[in-house]
Amino acid sequence: MPFPVHRMRRMRATEPLRRLVRETTLEPADFILPLFVTEGGRVRNPISSMPGNFQLSIDELIKECSECIELGLGGVILFGIPEHKDETASEAYREDGIVQRAVRALKDRYPSLVVITDVCNCEYTSHGHCGKVVGNDVDNDSTLEWLAASAVSHARAGADIVAPSDMMDGRVAAIRRALDAAGFVKTPILSYAAKYASVFYGPFREAAESAPQFGDRRSYQMDPPNAREAMREIALDIEEGADMIMVKPAMPYLDILRMARDRFDVPLAAYQVSGEFSMIKAAAANGWLDEQRAMMESLTAIRRAGADVILTYFARQAARLLQRG
Ligand code: PBG
Repeated sequence: MPFPVHRMRRMRATEPLRRLVRETTLEPADFILPLFVTEGGRVRNPISSMPGNFQLSIDELIKECSECIELGLGGVILFGIPEHKDETASEAYREDGIVQRAVRALKDRYPSLVVITDVCNCEYTSHGHCGKVVGNDVDNDSTLEWLAASAVSHARAGADIVAPSDMMDGRVAAIRRALDAAGFVKTPILSYAAKYASVFYGPFREAAESAPQFGDRRSYQMDPPNAREAMREIALDIEEGADMIMVKPAMPYLDILRMARDRFDVPLAAYQVSGEFSMIKAAAANGWLDEQRAMMESLTAIRRAGADVILTYFARQAARLLQRG
């Protein structure tokens, strides 16, 4: 027999052949776009470290979302930037807080748009931590009350999914119980189950004005070297009632995504975080990388590792590219 019999290059020879055997595909419906909502009218503050992203007032947010619907995105996730921050994160769970009003406005205008809300306190506390500070630590159990109250206020405003990102223990159970007690038995929980204490959140903290004023988040977010621990976090959240789980960040944690995909049969989301986005943008701005290809390759890798859904600041740009074919 002449050597080689197997020529892997045969099926790679032309684009139609490559397309025929492609194992992983992307669709606009896979993407969730994170959006930052702030007080005021006609506000569009550019976020300098995240080109193309803005802090938007509610009127501008509404405009922004019409394109999301045209493009067929899977949905949006909202982060609130309140005018007023305090020790008790009171704006996070006020019935007429910024996110609650934004959700009402969006669902009123676009009933079919999937609106997810991030449930956390760091954008609302004066110290920037994700919960109640007692001594020099974030107190777990008292923080659960704020989270449950926030989630219920988001559901009441019409949120389709609530997504806790704080990493307190027991928050999924506390939120589920509170939602059910308030009559929101149908509101699903997307848990940021395996969320690491990552340097790649840097640009987000500028966008959301949520950098901790002292210390860091390592006593509640996960330690980057740990993988088995992520499986325990996910298992606990599913037991507590999470309907979907998330791994965050995405590209530096593809192994975690793959492990989670292989072990758990719930829908799996990955968050391509601000730093992942900004690195690609910065390299492209320098002429060091082809932006579109870097964007599509990174999103494809995240899907291939096992994510069903990707939260990404590239949502619109990638969807536009897919639409053009
Ligand atoms: C809030 C939250 C953060 C992100 C999503 N939700 C920041 C943090 O934990 O500091 C990061 C998202 C990103 O970097 O794009 N707790």
